[in-house]
Amino acid sequence: MATTAARLARARHLAYCLPSIGEEEIQEVVDSLRSGWITTGPKVKRFEEDFAQYVGARHAVAVNSCTAALHVALAALGVGPGDEVIVPTLTFCATANVVVHLGAIPVLVDVDRDGQISPEAAACAVTECSKAILPVHYGGQACDLDAILELARRHGLAVVEDAAHAAGAEYHGRKLGTHGRAVAFSFYATKNLTTGEGGMITTENGALAARMRLLALHGMSRDAWKRYTETGSWYYEVLEAGYKDNMTDLQAALGIHQLRRLDGFIRRRREIAAAYDAAFGGLEELELPRRLPGRTHTYHLYPVRLRPGRLRLERPGFIQELHRRKIGASVHFIPLHRHPFYQRAYGYRPEQFPVAEEMYRGLVSLPLYPAMTGEDVDDVVAAVQQIIEEHRG
Ligand SMILES: Cc1ncc(COP(=O)(O)O)c(C=O)c1O
Repeated sequence: MATTAARLARARHLAYCLPSIGEEEIQEVVDSLRSGWITTGPKVKRFEEDFAQYVGARHAVAVNSCTAALHVALAALGVGPGDEVIVPTLTFCATANVVVHLGAIPVLVDVDRDGQISPEAAACAVTECSKAILPVHYGGQACDLDAILELARRHGLAVVEDAAHAAGAEYHGRKLGTHGRAVAFSFYATKNLTTGEGGMITTENGALAARMRLLALHGMSRDAWKRYTETGSWYYEVLEAGYKDNMTDLQAALGIHQLRRLDGFIRRRREIAAAYDAAFGGLEELELPRRLPGRTHTYHLYPVRLRPGRLRLERPGFIQELHRRKIGASVHFIPLHRHPFYQRAYGYRPEQFPVAEEMYRGLVSLPLYPAMTGEDVDDVVAAVQQIIEEHRG
């Protein structure tokens, strides 16, 4: 690894995130295009089966985003007007927006020092209107699921897990995908496994899987695959007013091969995280993401925190300095209670979420993805070290 002083700024900007799309993915998409079957068909079915097997779940329903997965899961569980769903505030807006779309109330709760939903805060938020808890496995590592599942069991609530970041992550030796009533995954362009846009819901419950499948395609009793194949029938019935959330074979073509490469992607992510841990571990100015006991980390994110009062610049200045050195960065997340809609609609105030507030002030996600070269990693390390040396308070 080059020393800070020796390294000059990069010639080219390092994107915060880039997907790793291989020749197999490209050929599979071409095969779909040539086959004439470009919407939901045999490849979606195969991807569902492969994904269910990978996480060890009985059922997997492919949809066109994690947002759709969360929405369909909550809808299938009967969440509706008047119900409350407990959601951590440190998440992407999709986690709570879907609750709003169903006419229910997203009850935001604080997180712990690791950015995971606080089981204590969740317990305090339970009322007689509570219907479900929607924990997020922040950054690619499971939250305290035992505590959340126990809380849900005590109060008869459903747990729908937002595992958008966490395909392949394990909790007590088992992959995420079977712990809660339903588990939603994202295959968005930045995710550890991508189909461009896409998502999956897994569940152990056959009746729930069937209802989610129905709701994900207009509430129709037969999907196109069943209608348009040689043995298919033209007749279908609309059993519910469902949504249009189905995944296409073009997406599944990518997913089938991305899934085969997922363990390798995670290994590379862990290597990069280990390099960051080693390089930044001695810096008092930074707090690093921790590995929590009983879990494996897939490092979808590597969010560091600037410790308050240690640097002569704040988070926006830190990100600007990274950009000046041609290193992309991001923030995960602007807590939901800070967004105008959530403040206006529900009256949330920052002082209700002290841990998320403190975290948010210093949060910076550094680039971490398998397509990064060793030199890219060295450049990120050098840039961070340089900024800290130059701005020590
Ligand atoms: C925590 C979390 N939940 C849900 C989503 C939504 O995923 P999608 O873009 O697949 O709808 C995201 C997307 O970034 C996310 O980070």
